[in-house]
Amino acid sequence: MDNVDGKVAFITGGASGIGLGLAKVLVKAGAKVVMADVRQDHLDEAGEWFAGNGQKDSVLGLRLDVTDRTAYADAAEQSLRTFGKMHILVNNAGMGISGSVKQARFDDWDWGLGVMIGGVINGITTFLPHLLAHGEGGHIVNTSSMAAVIPVKNFSIYGTAKMAMIGLSECLRADLAEDNIGASAFCPGPVQSNIRESGQTRPEKYRRNSGLAVQEQQLAARSNSPLWMDPVECGERILRGIRRNDLYIFTHPEFKDGTAEHFAAMLAAFPDEPINTERANAIRYLLSNPIFKEELAKKR
Ligand SMILES: NC(=O)c1ccc[n+]([C@@H]2O[C@H](COP(=O)([O-])OP(=O)(O)OC[C@H]3O[C@@H](n4cnc5c(N)ncnc54)[C@H](O)[C@@H]3O)[C@@H](O)[C@H]2O)c1
Repeated sequence: MDNVDGKVAFITGGASGIGLGLAKVLVKAGAKVVMADVRQDHLDEAGEWFAGNGQKDSVLGLRLDVTDRTAYADAAEQSLRTFGKMHILVNNAGMGISGSVKQARFDDWDWGLGVMIGGVINGITTFLPHLLAHGEGGHIVNTSSMAAVIPVKNFSIYGTAKMAMIGLSECLRADLAEDNIGASAFCPGPVQSNIRESGQTRPEKYRRNSGLAVQEQQLAARSNSPLWMDPVECGERILRGIRRNDLYIFTHPEFKDGTAEHFAAMLAAFPDEPINTERANAIRYLLSNPIFKEELAKKR
């Protein structure tokens, strides 16, 4: 989608941090944006920002918990009633959730994966029929993280969810290219945002048996570093990725060497044995995916 002027985007977690940064960038580029967010205070503040900028009519703020399928369907309907169509879906709502797997309880896993995987599936399943039906093409961005590419200690829940966003984006790319719908896994490093307040979005039902309450309090006390990326700069990088239909949208070159180590470790794990040609021929369709060659060709 090289031109977003006149297009419509739905951004979950769109009223704060990275999502809001992208909303500002998309509106500046001529798009209409639905900011869907579970926090009303974030929606109010974001709405005021756009109103103050004379861009009130370019945005719609909707209160939505992405894990609620019925509410998601209502939000989609309201978005289409307001702006007519939807072209860009940004599955971005998420939280900071960390702590050793030794402490994590079902409440922590269910909340983390429910929002960061379940919420994304709800978004895709709700909007994809519409994206396919209008025939104008589209793009789906799934917010992952560098913590998916380089999973570090104490990030089991977060890393599991964010790694799923890479796999999902690759699958969407393969399935939807023929329908002119692009897909990107967006993998930022540290960005200035309100992610430290994640605990405020944890539903009551997932508080009773959490093992990560201490880590949540520690996160709440952490402040943004000026070294972290500005969310609007981040949004500009996402828009560039949408325009170029990049499969991976990376933002921080500092992570390149660690990524190379990750893939080198995987390659080194293969059995050092001759290939069984007969077996290879029987499973040829499993052995490679053209999306990777296409992506490499684009970078040359
Ligand atoms: N900030 C970073 O350094 C960083 C790095 C890598 C990835 N990420 C990812 O980026 C995404 C955005 O995070 P951010 O840093 O901008 O944080 P943020 O807290 O500023 O914004 C996230 C927004 O998502 C909303 N949200 C949370 N749960 C929701 C739900 N169930 N339904 C709807 N909205 C919900 C929150 O209310 C919030 O407004 C997250 O998926 C996060 O994991 C952030």
